[in-house]
Amino acid sequence: MPANLNSTKRKKTNKGKRTPPFIWGAATSALQIEGAALADGKGLSIWDTFSARKGKIKDGTNPAKGSWHYERWREDVALMAKLGLAAYRFSISWPRVMPEGTGRVNQRGVDFYRRLVDQLLKKNIRPYVTLYHWDLPQILQDKGGWTNRDIVHWFSEYCAQVDKALGPLVDSYIVLNEPFVYTVLGYLLGVHAPGRRGFKNFFAAAHYSLLAQGAAARVLRSANRKARIGTTVSCTAAYPLRAVEKDMAAARRFDAFYNRMFVDPVVGRGYPAGEVPFLRKIERYIKDGDLPQIQFDFDFWGINTYTTKVVKANRLVPYLGFREISRGLPRTEMGWEIDPRGIYTLLKQFGSYPEIKELMITENGAAFADTVVAGRVHDRERIEYLREHIAMAEQARAGGVNLTGYFVWSLLDNFEWAEGYRPRFGIIYVDYVTGARILKDSALWYRDYIKANRK
Ligand code: FCB
Repeated sequence: MPANLNSTKRKKTNKGKRTPPFIWGAATSALQIEGAALADGKGLSIWDTFSARKGKIKDGTNPAKGSWHYERWREDVALMAKLGLAAYRFSISWPRVMPEGTGRVNQRGVDFYRRLVDQLLKKNIRPYVTLYHWDLPQILQDKGGWTNRDIVHWFSEYCAQVDKALGPLVDSYIVLNEPFVYTVLGYLLGVHAPGRRGFKNFFAAAHYSLLAQGAAARVLRSANRKARIGTTVSCTAAYPLRAVEKDMAAARRFDAFYNRMFVDPVVGRGYPAGEVPFLRKIERYIKDGDLPQIQFDFDFWGINTYTTKVVKANRLVPYLGFREISRGLPRTEMGWEIDPRGIYTLLKQFGSYPEIKELMITENGAAFADTVVAGRVHDRERIEYLREHIAMAEQARAGGVNLTGYFVWSLLDNFEWAEGYRPRFGIIYVDYVTGARILKDSALWYRDYIKANRK
């Protein structure tokens, strides 16, 4: 176990595994920051090909350069150390380490992560390794990607290879990043890679993602007994417009679909088809014995959350039967209303699941139109956002939720998927022409906050 612990006190939970003191970290993902899309034998990912299609990325850009992290990783780790981060959540690019998706391992790709992890440990920063953050090898998408049941084996094989290479050094894994988002946007609506549409694709991708997650988690657990194995879900708290039954039912439907669909089956509660009847159609993809295979006793669950919604029942809206109502609250560059109480609602909600042992906020943050003034970025709104959201997380924790960490999204400005580079989420500014980095005021604020709140 890395020796970055802020204090020597440790609580014992998770069947004898030691949980370290509260972790303050920052998060990124490979596709969004690395660039070097074809360097050192990397294969193409679905985002390399999707972004080459006309009109798919709003500002017409692509992830080929990203935030230049593949070249500047050493400097990035030094900046993390300067901020006093206890942990860094990053993802492994599957096509970088296995360009054909299965079989051959690309040693140069593995070496990149090996060097990164070594350097993190040297600086007492704990690596939180996400195994899938949306950059599927294109070669596997050509065989159906997440809609092909064989992905259960492909993904398990890849995870086993990553653990073989990094396992001795890594003690925290995150199996999937937000399966709801990549299956809905990538396979139902077609606005994210791989750009597929329709319920058939969505149900297959959703169910096989959960099967693959369970299988891979078991592989990791049996190969690496000391690793803590977690996963993440995207979550948005929803509130009824009025305190009337139909709006309250609408908020419950929202919650079942957006938040619980990828949690409940894993903890043995099944898909929430009671609240969301169209989910019954997923049954067509479920074979005997699948539901127990989906279940896994994760050491921690990561919640990624950014905004909240207010909903109003409306029978004319197909499938979900509600509309989202704008409240006129201030918004971020993504158009997301700012409402810090959501983080509290979600932590309380999932904290009350007896099957969930431990929660982390694995993403939270905001995009604003940052400008550089005399070499500085005065991002007051982001500081305010972080301060208020962290305060709500702290409140949930004080109220008894077993929350063990908080990761700001994101360490660096980066390629925000179909939005391109315009929304800047980083606490570190990236000049996309030169690659230069500037610590924004929010980074300095976070550094001071971490220092004052080490426990
Ligand atoms: C999440 C993604 C992350 C980033 C943030 C803004 O859904 O996991 O990669 O794009 O949103």
